[in-house]
Amino acid sequence: MTPDDLKQLVRTVPDFPAPGILFRDITTLIGHGAGFAASVEHLAERAAAARAESVAGMEARGFIFGAAVAARLGIGFVPVRKPGKLPVATLGIDYALEYGSDRLEIDPSAISSGERVVIVDDLIATGGTALAAAELLRQAGAQVDHALFVIDLPDLAGAQRLRDAGVTVDALMEFA
Ligand code: PRP
Ligand code: HPA
Repeated sequence: MTPDDLKQLVRTVPDFPAPGILFRDITTLIGHGAGFAASVEHLAERAAAARAESVAGMEARGFIFGAAVAARLGIGFVPVRKPGKLPVATLGIDYALEYGSDRLEIDPSAISSGERVVIVDDLIATGGTALAAAELLRQAGAQVDHALFVIDLPDLAGAQRLRDAGVTVDALMEFA
């Protein structure tokens, strides 16, 4: 299935989580076996081209695609978690969200110095989450040059923010 085919599998829900917002929902994409597999395949090809040594994904939807891409390539997965979930001393960063604010944490021992880590998430909106993840992974010693998304919302300019931070951005589809 092509990225255009996959776009047809994303459901658009009006007025979630707030009035006036068109929520692009991946539930229908990942619920379609061939669609989910093709999404992972397209992302994995791009991660391999970026010479990923491991994949980092952000809780929770980034785990769905990121873990699958890492397993497909036979490389490790680094979970970038919401606060208070990891049982070890963590490195953390606070960040602004499209709807509020949050914090991300990682186990720094999950990353070797200079390791080429590719970020994978379902969607980039303002870019706040991915930017925070990139900064956190870099603080832990990772080389973060690429971030991959299923969906880019270009009107929110998140991809440009990431590019300004030196991260190459690629997405399977855009909703403008
Ligand atoms: C969503 C999405 C991205 C982020 C994109 O996650 O999965 O991680 O928001 O928004 P941004 O580019 O403006 O930062 P959310 O924080 O809603 O958490 P979830 O994956 O647990 O649903
Ligand atoms: N859809 C899904 N997740 C999101 C969105 C959206 O439109 N915006 C920010 N996170």
